[in-house]
Amino acid sequence: MATLLGIDIGGTGMKAAPVDTATGELIAPRHRILTPQPATPDAMAQVVAQLTRHFDWTGEVGAAFPAVVKGGVARTAANIDPAWIGTDVADTFARTSGCDVTVVNDADAAGVAEMEFGAGKGRAGVVLMVTLGTGIGTAVFFDGVLIPNTELGHLRMGKRDAETRTSDAVRQRLGLSWAKWARRLDAYLLELERLLWPDLFILGGGVSKRHDRFVPRLTTHAEVVPAKLLNEAGIVGAALGAQKAAGTGATVHHAATQPPPATGPSGPR
Ligand code: BGC
Repeated sequence: MATLLGIDIGGTGMKAAPVDTATGELIAPRHRILTPQPATPDAMAQVVAQLTRHFDWTGEVGAAFPAVVKGGVARTAANIDPAWIGTDVADTFARTSGCDVTVVNDADAAGVAEMEFGAGKGRAGVVLMVTLGTGIGTAVFFDGVLIPNTELGHLRMGKRDAETRTSDAVRQRLGLSWAKWARRLDAYLLELERLLWPDLFILGGGVSKRHDRFVPRLTTHAEVVPAKLLNEAGIVGAALGAQKAAGTGATVHHAATQPPPATGPSGPR
């Protein structure tokens, strides 16, 4: 059994818990700290260090991050500070936490967790996970294998980016009724279906708890199911995704080669 500290980094909260990657279970209650605003690399790295200290953690860390992440480096920053673009996220977090850190895209992490332990378990063919939160994230699987860093939340719908019309944050901000929001979501899923013909859509994000209000209104050919792991998918997927990424030789940032500053876990706990 491997135990990693999974950290789910979102636009509003940063949540962590140690995860048994064999069962997908959290082995301690999760701890949540508000995402600092502005969500700059320094400010967020301090919160990562606070989270590892909370669990007295010195082992491996897997972080799920809301951007395209290639080789540990952020390539986009739709809902975080633009200073992240080109920043080595894994390295930044390894420095402040003193832990070995692997970073994956947040929707990919949630998708990996759902495929392994949730709504996608045992599902072959093309599965498309869509996370509806501050932004829209996507994870595409074929026979359980992930194509990383798909950014279908930024698909153009008319002149607009899909996430600026259809995210859950937009539903809340505009006070859209379930019927109105479901119409926007349906148009988006139909566009994804027209392009990718998935066998299954898994809808994640906090709003998936209210699936009874909008899933019955959707008209895709493919089956649509809510995510099962809800709040935990990001944390479990961060741990699992990090473990898988490390297995494929993706960059893992070893804290040992980077002495943490005084604020790191070498200081008083
Ligand atoms: C980002 C994605 C992320 C999604 C959900 C989008 O704005 O571009 O990388 O997965 O938000 O956080």
